[in-house]
Amino acid sequence: MLETAEKMIEAAGQRLERVVYTEGEIRARVGAMGEQIARHYEDAGDLLVLGLLKGSFVFLADLVREIPLPLHVDFLVASSYGSEKVSSGDVQLLYQSASTLKGRNVLVVEDIIDSGTTVARLMPLLREREPKSLEICALLHKRIVPLEWEPRWVGFDAPRDFLIGYGLDYSEHFRHLPFIASLRD
Ligand code: PRP
Repeated sequence: MLETAEKMIEAAGQRLERVVYTEGEIRARVGAMGEQIARHYEDAGDLLVLGLLKGSFVFLADLVREIPLPLHVDFLVASSYGSEKVSSGDVQLLYQSASTLKGRNVLVVEDIIDSGTTVARLMPLLREREPKSLEICALLHKRIVPLEWEPRWVGFDAPRDFLIGYGLDYSEHFRHLPFIASLRD
């Protein structure tokens, strides 16, 4: 897969720097996170897992299968990067989930928290909908600045490199890679 991925990346005019998290490392970490989350919500009642599209679709699919509790899944769609490597800072909420949040335990699933702009924009909107509890689970966190909305569960403290794969894209490419890699500048 690595060789094929390198070719795809070069065809898109980019260069692979290195594989940052392998498929096996991600699987192990997601399994451990699922266990912790299941323990946390065990006696909490109604759980709604809210994925932030598009980036979280792979992580969410793997994560919910590691949470052996009754739960529901829904999505929000937000976008800030456009086709660039740097966030525009202008977070567009393209789709708000129609699920009722009021009185439910809501777990927001993010693939990556980079500048924190997306969660800063979205969390107050979700809070307004009066969930019983509201937490964030992020596979990757760059910890560039302290956040008002810190994720309760983090998979990896990510390097500052531009990352692709396992849901993360460069200009919509590479979301389907099973590992996470960095691109050269
Ligand atoms: C990416 C990623 C996060 C957000 C993180 O989404 O999926 O949602 O950026 O960056 P931030 O912390 O600097 O706000 P993007 O806007 O690229 O949309 P996508 O999920 O469709 O890739």
